[in-house]
Amino acid sequence: MLKDYKKRVKKSFKSLNLKGNISPKTAIILGSGLSAVKDSIDGTEIPFSKIKGFPAPTVKGHSGILKISDKVVVCAGRIHYYEGHSIDDVVLPIFLLSRLGVKNLIITNAAGGINPTYAAGELVLISDHINLTGCNPLIGINDDSLGPRFPDMSECYSKKLIEKALSIKPDLKQGVYAGLKGPSYETPAEVRMLQTIGADLVGMSTVNEVIAASYLGMNVIGISCVTNLAAGVTDERLDHAEVVEAGKKAGKELTELILKLLAEI
Ligand code: HPA
Repeated sequence: MLKDYKKRVKKSFKSLNLKGNISPKTAIILGSGLSAVKDSIDGTEIPFSKIKGFPAPTVKGHSGILKISDKVVVCAGRIHYYEGHSIDDVVLPIFLLSRLGVKNLIITNAAGGINPTYAAGELVLISDHINLTGCNPLIGINDDSLGPRFPDMSECYSKKLIEKALSIKPDLKQGVYAGLKGPSYETPAEVRMLQTIGADLVGMSTVNEVIAASYLGMNVIGISCVTNLAAGVTDERLDHAEVVEAGKKAGKELTELILKLLAEI
């Protein structure tokens, strides 16, 4: 459990310097190279570096900006465990979003496609996840005023929101996302293992944030952009620059989907 949660979140919240009573109901977290949506949404931009308690992201393609309006708040960039930050840091933005009053979370990521029916550049809805990071952001003394000690995770990706996305784009596929620590990509043997245990997608984020969001009572929809097929699914080697580039190409479709979702939730 985020140590000194209330103090940390209070400090971060105060440093946003918000004027008036801004309380967006929906938040969007944009993954590697997927920041295009940010420019289609109005709001005030606050760099992560100006938010007290936020460590600056260190990965290319993660701009690290919070953009906030009365309706929606966008986190373009996120804090990854593989950057050397603590799991408390990774989920601090989720706790801050909850403090802002966020009830719906649209969380996106770049992922490797394990399911051989997926193609690079495709968007896939996350139906469930497997947390293989070895972390859990709720470990420690629980604050019962925030959420239960043993939160139910049977619907941490909202079926209602999945249905809404499917009503917008019926051909969207769904899949189970395996979250690993990274930063090395998987070996082909690891990808075969992930396939055996039921994963369709693999990535290095999302699962701990979704555990925190679900604990805090948010409705979550997860959208993966398959930037590449996972190691061993094809003969190609993985390259981060290509992953970011593929994310940018899928950006238009992701922006359209998110804007339509926003109009409905
Ligand atoms: N593996 C893990 N994370 C990723 C991948 C991958 O193949 N592609 C994009 N993020």
